Order: sequence, then structure tokens, then C-alpha cells
Amino acid sequence: MHTCIVYSSRTGNTRAVGAYLADCFGFPIYAVDEAPLGFERFILGFWTWRGGPDEAMRAFMGRLCHKSVFFFGTMAAFPDSSHAERCALLAEELLFRGNCRVLGHFFCQGRLDPEVLARSTHPRTPERMARLAEAARHPNRQDFRAAEEAVRKAFSLNASRGAELTGTFLKQSA
Ligand SMILES: Cc1cc2nc3c(=O)[nH]c(=O)nc-3n(C[C@H](O)[C@H](O)[C@H](O)COP(=O)(O)O)c2cc1C
Repeated sequence: MHTCIVYSSRTGNTRAVGAYLADCFGFPIYAVDEAPLGFERFILGFWTWRGGPDEAMRAFMGRLCHKSVFFFGTMAAFPDSSHAERCALLAEELLFRGNCRVLGHFFCQGRLDPEVLARSTHPRTPERMARLAEAARHPNRQDFRAAEEAVRKAFSLNASRGAELTGTFLKQSA
């Protein structure tokens, strides 16, 4: 099955996770504004904006029909938060509209652009500032490895249901 990675990234966090996965699995990687549609399986990476995938990735998701998709997102929020859960639901909803099959997803934190933070009018509560201080340390090596693991798991579950894997993937997971 032909797989590619498509990412959308404003400040590089999401691109870094995508580049790591491309390196691990040997899949081609494209920025969202130059991504082809002719693959069967996609790994989509987005930065979180207004609680969901960023605009460019929302548009791209809207163009996918009958594809198998694993998606990942970087965000300022914690990956185990209800914010992340809602973000996943939003992404799934967009993909289900095109009858895509969602194989799995992964979230990690990613540093919020300091200029955006400086301009932000959100209250600077200790809780929020602690969350953003933690986000500034991501994505890190653990996130990269966790993303890799999530893809491996999603794709091998898929394989046990009879789907094909690329030679590269089989080689890497051996
Ligand atoms: C305009 C803007 C809106 C954002 N909205 C959210 C949001 O709704 N939820 C969230 O958790 N993070 C939000 N973030 C944080 C980014 O999603 C996060 O820093 C991400 O890692 C950036 O990825 P990138 O470096 O690939 O652009 C926002 C960042 C910006 C600049």
C-alpha cells in the first residue's frame, strides 16, 4: 500500500515529528500545500488551531476520499486533555465525511510561538503558564518515539486485518 506523510506546520514542531516518521518508515513526506492525492494511505500531521486541525490541514482533509488515514497533531494543550480528545473528534469528523478510514492518531505538545504568546489576551493563570512552559520542551525525543510507536501499532493492527504493508515498513518493524 502506498503511504505518504503530509504535514502542516507554522513554526516547525509538526514538521519535526513528520520528518522523524519519514526517516523511520521511509515514507515520502510533503508539505500540505504541495501534497499529492494519489496515495492510498496517509499520515497527516497538523498544528492545533482553535481546538482542531489548522486551516490548511482541514482543507486537505476535506479533499480526501476513501483513504486510510493516521493523523497526529502538536498542541499547546496536554495530549491527554479533553481539548485533545475534542480535537481528535473534529479531525475524525472531517475525514469521515470523505469516507476515509481512520487507523489511529497521536498527539504531543509543541512549543507555542513566543510572539503569539506575547500578544495573547488569554489570562496568564499559573496553570496555563505551567502548561505552556511544559509545551516549550516539546516535541522531544520521547514524543518522536511515541509517535513512531503509535504509527507502528496502528499499521500493524491494520495489517492483522488483512491490509498490505510496504516492504519498508515490514523491514523496519522486523
Ligand atoms: C494562532 C494559534 C492558535 C493556536 N491554537 C491552539 C489551540 O486551539 N489549542 C492548542 O492546544 N494549541 C494551540 N496552539 C498551539 C500550537 O498548535 C502548537 O504550538 C503547535 O505545536 C505549533 O506547531 P507548528 O510548530 O508545527 O506550527 C495555537 C498556536 C497558534 C499560533
